[in-house]
Amino acid sequence: MHIVHIAVEMAPIAKVGGLGDVVTSLSRAIQDLGHKVEVIFPKYDCLNLSNVKDLHCRQSFTWGGTEIKVWFGKVEGISVYFLEPQNGMFWVGCVYGKNDESRFGFFCHSALEFLLQSGSSPQQYVHNGLPNGRVVFTIHNLEFGVHHIGKAMAHCDKATTVSYTYSKEVSGHGSIAPHYFKFHGIRNGIDSDIWDPYNDNFIPVHYTSENVVEGKSSAKRALQEKLGLHQTDSPLVGIISRLTAQKGIHLIKHAIYRTLERNGQVVLLGSAPDHRIQGDFSNLAAKLHGEFDGRVKLCLTYDEPLSHLIYAGADFILVPSIFEPCGLTQLTAMRYGSIPIVRKTGGLYDTVFDVDDDKDRAHEQGLEPNGFSFEGADSNGVDYALDRAITTWYDARDWFDSLCKRVMEQDWSWNRPALDYMELYHSARKN
Ligand code: ADP
Ligand code: GLC
Repeated sequence: MHIVHIAVEMAPIAKVGGLGDVVTSLSRAIQDLGHKVEVIFPKYDCLNLSNVKDLHCRQSFTWGGTEIKVWFGKVEGISVYFLEPQNGMFWVGCVYGKNDESRFGFFCHSALEFLLQSGSSPQQYVHNGLPNGRVVFTIHNLEFGVHHIGKAMAHCDKATTVSYTYSKEVSGHGSIAPHYFKFHGIRNGIDSDIWDPYNDNFIPVHYTSENVVEGKSSAKRALQEKLGLHQTDSPLVGIISRLTAQKGIHLIKHAIYRTLERNGQVVLLGSAPDHRIQGDFSNLAAKLHGEFDGRVKLCLTYDEPLSHLIYAGADFILVPSIFEPCGLTQLTAMRYGSIPIVRKTGGLYDTVFDVDDDKDRAHEQGLEPNGFSFEGADSNGVDYALDRAITTWYDARDWFDSLCKRVMEQDWSWNRPALDYMELYHSARKN
């Protein structure tokens, strides 16, 4: 099959959050199944071009009175068409900025026009033109673009979102409910080549589940050294997150204090699109770094290499989201043998099974429990999961080590969900 993704984030050339990871890794997974996959992408001026191979301008076309140059290049082995309108439209903002509605509205229309015009010539890549194509619309987060989703839902052949539980959670929403019959939840996977502790340039010792204890303890030491934390053997909780209300900011703050009370260490890597939240965390960082010197570090920036070292060096990765369409951090954590501590919502519910509470639910999925989780979006909820996690670390170290090994061996790649997408694409063709 020939699949074209129209997307506005793509790792590693322009990533803000999980959407960027998914566009690249889902494309690669489907391409690996033998299908032809291409991406149409805005040519932002902030693109990380060192990660685009053989970039060259191929053609141009006109839409809405604007000339649009089409560049072609390869990103992580995927063919990408970059649209560059000569009115400067995508040069503004990186990736999101001002006037996003008109910028991305223009981008979507011009991408469709590009498909139509390319289809007019038989040897061009959309063989029969768009009229014979099918449209699958994927909602990565209902919070964004919520006013336009109803219209998009009406026009697509199939719609998806990124986990089964989130699809249920949003099923009653006014823009989804009328189209529910064509709406499906397919959970995200992670690219197990890009996220691979056995082949990761950002960690000191490469490891598999066989030497997870050794690999993780050297990563922990490297992380502590890099961030000026005491080189003690204490439970280390990592948080890697956009700092927005979605991610449970008050729960993150509570968990930091609670971990410190229990003599643990905390590393937070996060940045806030909202200046007030960023300012608030800067104040918190100054306070914590003063009060708990050497035991906590808040890095309020976006730093891909550091994220790898945290995934490897942390004992736990905390994801206390208020809502979470899928979430990738808990999956990446497991790939690196870190134990997820999550709130039971959306994709977090579907992928993390509490070691005490969710044995049966895990077994129904053919899995063993793999983490700690809680329900209430309050400090009691956090304590319920975090306290058990830290106590396990202190009091049942051998068992904890075997849990790390176990989670590393679970498969959270695209192997299964890529097949689910293909099944959905095939069913869209039967419409
Ligand atoms: P969302 O897309 O809602 O932000 P996900 O869990 O799906 O949440 O994806 C987040 C992605 O962004 C993960 O790959 C995570 O490692 C990465 N990430 C988030 N914040 C940072 C940061 N400050 N620095 C580096 N990577 C980050
Ligand atoms: C969104 C969601 C996140 C999801 C990601 C990729 O940003 O917030 O839960 O994992 O998209 O689908």
